[in-house]
Amino acid sequence: MKNKFFGHDFINCNDWSKKELVTAIDVALKLKKKFYLKQPTQYLLHQTLFLLFFFASTRTRTSFEAAMDHLGGNPHDLTVETLQINHGDTSKEIGKILSSYGQGIAIRHCDWKIGNKYINEVANNSNKPVFNMQCDIYHPFQAMADLMTIFEKKGKKLKGKKIVMSWAYAKSYSKPISVPQSFLLLLSLFGADLVLTHPQEFKLMPKIINEIKQNTKTYGGTFEITDNMEEVFDNADVVYPKSWGPLVTTPDQKEGKKIISQYKDWICDEKKMKLTKKDAIYMHCLPADRGVEVTDEVIDGHQSVVYQQAENRLHVQKAILALTMGKDISF
Ligand code: CP
Repeated sequence: MKNKFFGHDFINCNDWSKKELVTAIDVALKLKKKFYLKQPTQYLLHQTLFLLFFFASTRTRTSFEAAMDHLGGNPHDLTVETLQINHGDTSKEIGKILSSYGQGIAIRHCDWKIGNKYINEVANNSNKPVFNMQCDIYHPFQAMADLMTIFEKKGKKLKGKKIVMSWAYAKSYSKPISVPQSFLLLLSLFGADLVLTHPQEFKLMPKIINEIKQNTKTYGGTFEITDNMEEVFDNADVVYPKSWGPLVTTPDQKEGKKIISQYKDWICDEKKMKLTKKDAIYMHCLPADRGVEVTDEVIDGHQSVVYQQAENRLHVQKAILALTMGKDISF
């Protein structure tokens, strides 16, 4: 079968149509079943995927490596320190050279105002698909794994479901804003009632907010922005409380930490979870700052789906890699 996804990049979910995204999730669900049944899935036999990390990773690194193993291909885990990037290799050279050696390039580059630009420059110079493993603006594979998890737990019809993305306090560092942005952008295609809540300094990029509003008009549902964590948990079906940096307000890490420290009561605890529906789910992309961002009781509790989300990274990535790197495949 001719595969119409062949050769496509995956840099932002919303570059794909809603129909294509749903197909990718359907393929991921099939591959998940095959994984449990121990059936072969060697759709990318002897193909090479380069994984280039400018930033640390546990889940993304290991799930992409495992994905290529399961698909019969080879992942090559590269870091900036082991390449000549700091000695002059440009994004153009990385795109042209790595695409001449393999069948795909995946990049994580989260530096504010740099990461997304870099990934697009590589893509413009690569004749093979380029994948965004997280940048300063988007984390598309995380959003797809999150959507797959919501479909599994709540079904595919999200109309009338209250889905909350909330800022939460964390002391480790100013985390990227790519997770809340990609999550809301993707969910806004499915007609849910979306709520975003954060202290005023933690605004998302205006361009992203406008796109979410536009999607809500096109696909139905609602989108509300508030600054009260406790209030928005009321009657929610899905809550996704996580920290991100006040990067739109200030990219300065020191100043950012000072702002973050004012909001220590923005923690997801059992008291807040009790306000949600009985069958509500708690989501987090991980890593979480336990004890400050979320209590152990919640993240280890019966409403938490964090391990399902992490596992679904594998299945979603296998689906998108197979669809974009496999020329003539059917599932
Ligand atoms: N959720 C996520 O992307 O995890 P890593 O940063 O460990 O890859």
